[in-house]
Amino acid sequence: MDMIGEIEAADLRRDFAITRKTIYMNNGAVAPTPLSTIKAVTNFLLKVSEDGPDSSGIEDHLVSLLSEVRTRIAHLINCDKDEVVLTESTTQGLNIVAKGIAWNKGDSLVVRGGKHEHYANYLPWLATAQSRGLSLRELAVDKNGFFEFGELEKALRGSRLITMSHVLYNTGSIMPVEEVGKIASENDVLFCIDAAQSAGALPIDVKKIGCQFMAFPGFKWICGPLGIGVLYCSKKAAELLEPHVVGGESAVLSENNVLANLEMPSRLQAGFRNYPGAAGLESALRYILRIGLTNIWERNLRIANLMREELGRIEGIELYGPEEEQRRSSIVSFLPPKAMDAEKVVKKLEENGVIFAARDIGGGRKAVRASPHFFNDETEATTAIGYVRRMLS
Ligand SMILES: Cc1ncc(COP(=O)(O)O)c(C=O)c1O
Repeated sequence: MDMIGEIEAADLRRDFAITRKTIYMNNGAVAPTPLSTIKAVTNFLLKVSEDGPDSSGIEDHLVSLLSEVRTRIAHLINCDKDEVVLTESTTQGLNIVAKGIAWNKGDSLVVRGGKHEHYANYLPWLATAQSRGLSLRELAVDKNGFFEFGELEKALRGSRLITMSHVLYNTGSIMPVEEVGKIASENDVLFCIDAAQSAGALPIDVKKIGCQFMAFPGFKWICGPLGIGVLYCSKKAAELLEPHVVGGESAVLSENNVLANLEMPSRLQAGFRNYPGAAGLESALRYILRIGLTNIWERNLRIANLMREELGRIEGIELYGPEEEQRRSSIVSFLPPKAMDAEKVVKKLEENGVIFAARDIGGGRKAVRASPHFFNDETEATTAIGYVRRMLS
C-alpha cells in the first residue's frame, strides 16, 4: 500500500480534486488546497456572516484564530508564537525586513548569488542598497547555486546582514543554512532566509539555524489559500525593525504624545484583515503537520528521485541539483536537449495534462521545472516523464 507516514496516500489524494484531472507538479509556484481547507474558509465566512461580522463573539473568534495560526507556525518552524507576523506573501515579508532596518550609510549586506536568487529575495535588497547607500556583496555560486565557505566568511566580515533562499527555486538545492547561521553569528551578522521553497516541504528549525528573519508564503508547499504568508522575526531582532505600517493595533500614544510600539507580534501586525486567509492557513497547517514534515520530504524526494532517474535516461537532457540526496528538495529541473525552449516544452506538457513550469537557470536560459508534492504519486511521475520522453525523442 502507498503510505505517507501513517496515512494512506489515496486518502490524501482524494482531498485534492486536481488529481482527478491533471498531473499537477507546479507546487513550487502555487499548490492546490485540500478540501478541508476550502471548507475551513467557507465555514469561516459563514460564521462571520451569520453571527454578525462586527460582534463581540466574532472578535473573540478572530483573536483565537490568529493565536491558533501562530501556534501552528511555531510548530512548523520551532519558534515562539509571538515571533510570527502574518503577511500577504514572501515578498512582503522580505520587504518588511529590508526596508525596516535602520541602516547606516555604508553598511554592507550579503546576497547569495545576486541575480541567481529569486528576484523576491534580491530586488528588495538591491533597492534598499541603492536608496540608503549600502554596499551589496554578492557571493559567487556554482551551477547548482552553492558557494564557497571561505568566500562567505570573507564577505560576512564587517557586514550587517546576509540573506539567502533556504531551497533554491530553480535547482532545488538545499542551502547549508545551519552552517551559514553559525558563521553569521560568529561575525555578529543578521541572517534572513527566504523559505518560499522550503516551508511545508521539509522540516525547519529556526533555533537550530540561528536566523533572525524568515519569510514564506502559505500558498506553496503549505497548501494554504493565496494571499497569506508569514514573517518570522525573532523578538530581539524585531527591535531593529521600524514597523512598515503603524496604527492603533501596533502602537500606543502616551499623554505627552510619545508614540510607543507594542510588543511582538502586534508591533509588526497593524492593519491585518485577511481573516479568511488565516482560517485557510490554519487548516492547511493542521493538514500538513498531521502528515509530518519528515514524511512529506521523504515522500517527495522518492517521487523526485524516480523522475530524475527516468529523465537521466533521455538523451541530451541536462539535469540540475546536487548529487548528495540530503541536499536536494523535490524540485527537479532540467534543460531540454538541442537548446529547445523550456517554455514550449512546458506548454506542450500542459496540453497533455501535465503541469510543470519554466524557470530561469542562469546564463540567460530557462529550465523545465517539476515540483511534485505529497499528493502526487509514482504513477504520475512515470507518466509525466513518459510524455517528456515522447516529446523530446
Ligand atoms: C524562492 C522564492 N522566493 C520568493 C518567491 C515569491 O513568493 P511570494 O509570491 O510569496 O512573494 C518565490 C516564488 O516562486 C520563490 O520561489
